[in-house]
Amino acid sequence: MSKNKLTVPFFNYIRQYNLLKKPIHRGIEQVLNSGHLILDKEVKSLESNFSKYIGATFGISVNSGTDAIKIALRAIMVENGDEIITVANTAIPTVSAIRELGAIPSFVDIKDNFLINENLISKAITDRTKAILPVHLYGQACNMPAILAIAKQNKLKVIEDCAQAHGTTISDKKVGTFGDMAIFSFYPTKNLGAYGDGGIIITSDKHLAEKCRRLRVYGIKNNYRAEIEGYNSRLDELQAAILNVKLKYLDEWNSRRRQIAEYYIKNIINEKIVLPEIDNLENHVFHQFIIRVRNRSNFIKYLSKNKIGYGIHYPYPIHLQPAYNFLKYKEGDLPNTEIFANEIISLPIFPELDNVEIEYIVSVINEY
Ligand SMILES: Cc1ncc(COP(=O)(O)O)c(C=O)c1O
Repeated sequence: MSKNKLTVPFFNYIRQYNLLKKPIHRGIEQVLNSGHLILDKEVKSLESNFSKYIGATFGISVNSGTDAIKIALRAIMVENGDEIITVANTAIPTVSAIRELGAIPSFVDIKDNFLINENLISKAITDRTKAILPVHLYGQACNMPAILAIAKQNKLKVIEDCAQAHGTTISDKKVGTFGDMAIFSFYPTKNLGAYGDGGIIITSDKHLAEKCRRLRVYGIKNNYRAEIEGYNSRLDELQAAILNVKLKYLDEWNSRRRQIAEYYIKNIINEKIVLPEIDNLENHVFHQFIIRVRNRSNFIKYLSKNKIGYGIHYPYPIHLQPAYNFLKYKEGDLPNTEIFANEIISLPIFPELDNVEIEYIVSVINEY
């Protein structure tokens, strides 16, 4: 093994950029020559293309996934003190967006597949609960039929956090079309990533879409008249042009991610490694491929020695982070979330990895 040591990055956008240089540069030049940099043709086209891709009617692009959550919550009238049911094993922005509105995250534990345990949601509902915010983490779908049934019974709104789930499906229906609204992030590492920050809100509700459109530009509809207080949260024409080029490749990239995942699942054979629970390979878009290992720090040293990049998504459950002490959670409140946070590790899975690299990763892991 040591004779053929490779260096495999955890993620590298430059490989994809090299493949798409021509159309991306063309898109950038077109924008710069057009005389329009903000809220113009490319943004409209991305909103239309992406909402069509997801299978919803409206797309409202904004400057990040975090803002998309904040604005979607504002659109459904979330206010100071309202409770939003979500998970603590997510990117911090899921929670910081809730907090920006003064609302309170109410954390529910996860199942062995790392997704919200729908059987624990009802217990978390109180008089102040306004919405459920399921996170389709790592590219795998939450149990939306069950979540929608609970929401309906309790008259709650549902906003799907699809920041890691561009193209994930349940049967043939894409996530992002189940709840009242959904959000996606275009952060560079995402399955569809910009070359900077970006995000989008998806909905098929005309009224909510209109409200989000206003909220992203200071609350104004036209002529500088604001009837609601809003923000500055716009995706710019350059990022939209880049995303319009990349969107055409998303399905192909997701297939390649599935292929790599399938290779890992079939070939990683080591009793120290727990492979992820996958409900259905075809529905998953493998934003991340997560394995579990007991003595993680030892395993990390081993990967580093063999020059294999890795990630941890996420090492600290949000309910136990110092910034959220005031929510008064304690160790043991979310057992699965806490145990998995100590054991999970993300393997390289970006589409431009080549077969020699993934074979190398598997053989190194099998020798651990
Ligand atoms: C699950 C999840 N939600 C929300 C976000 C926020 O997206 P952004 O980084 O674009 O603000 C991210 C990405 O970091 C994420 O992974």
